[in-house]
Amino acid sequence: MNTSTPSKTKTAFQNDVQDGLSSFPKYLYSKYIYDEKGDKLFQDIMALPEYYLTKCEFEIISEHTQEIAALFSENAASFDLIELGAGDGKKTKVLLKHLADENFNFVYKPIDISQNAIDLLTENLSSELPKVTVDAEKGEYFEVLERLQTFNKRKKVILLLGSNIGNLLHHRAIDFLTKLKDTMGEQDQLFIGFDQKKDPQTILDAYNDATGVTAAFNKNLLHRINTEMGGNFNVEKFKHWEVYDPESGTAKSYLVATEAMSVTIEALDLTVTFDAWETIHTEISQKYTDKVVAWLADSAGLTIETSFEDGKGYYKNYVFRRK
Ligand code: AVI
Repeated sequence: MNTSTPSKTKTAFQNDVQDGLSSFPKYLYSKYIYDEKGDKLFQDIMALPEYYLTKCEFEIISEHTQEIAALFSENAASFDLIELGAGDGKKTKVLLKHLADENFNFVYKPIDISQNAIDLLTENLSSELPKVTVDAEKGEYFEVLERLQTFNKRKKVILLLGSNIGNLLHHRAIDFLTKLKDTMGEQDQLFIGFDQKKDPQTILDAYNDATGVTAAFNKNLLHRINTEMGGNFNVEKFKHWEVYDPESGTAKSYLVATEAMSVTIEALDLTVTFDAWETIHTEISQKYTDKVVAWLADSAGLTIETSFEDGKGYYKNYVFRRK
């Protein structure tokens, strides 16, 4: 019989923090930015004048609502509209309203890793768009994708908005799209947003806003480690830093230690030392060209049916199908 005290199993968040802060160079995954405070900060980011992505996608959906609705309902009496990473659904609501007003037969299935985002959205939709049937689910994309495979036989339209795909490196984006493709039937569609390459300054400004909301968003990772794992990060001693490489189209976010320090994280029984100006890489936000999108789609066994862009050509939504 094993009489030793069972060691507490660590959460995925704890394991990832342990690995990321014990590596060189250090990193943390951006998906952990999103707790209640992180969700709120992201909402604030979407309202920033510098953060053009949301406005561009809103414009695309608003200007092409009828065309998009016609595409989604093509060859199908009814369909499931499955949104991955739904957030506050502001852009989707334009489409949902049109589909409900025109009596399309569909179920809206928003999926988000944040229970808080799901609760807020469900509540909001039941009062704003009571005609829409909502069947929300909390979960990681990949977890939910597996469940999607056993989903009913109705046409599926999967929405991945906000250039969320851009938070994945290309090889992970291809894996992700391949898994999505594997859950799709011949008639199913993927409506997906890709932020485009543009003036590098416009991109840098979007991730380094004048009021410091993005900095607070990035630093929420350290606040979460402090509150949830007994960490003692002095968050003020870290600086938000953004770089954009116009060649690769990769925007990278960092937290930079402004002086040498040592941080303890009780729940991990871990002490992390930082040299002055040492970095923690926290997020990538990839920017794309048509060629790169076509390559990603093709590598994942998908083909581009059509695409829509905003007036400035900053952002595009593509409709993918299985090859
Ligand atoms: C959610 N994701 C697509 C956003 C982005 O643009 O990479 C998150 C974000 N990070 C800083 N600002 C916004």
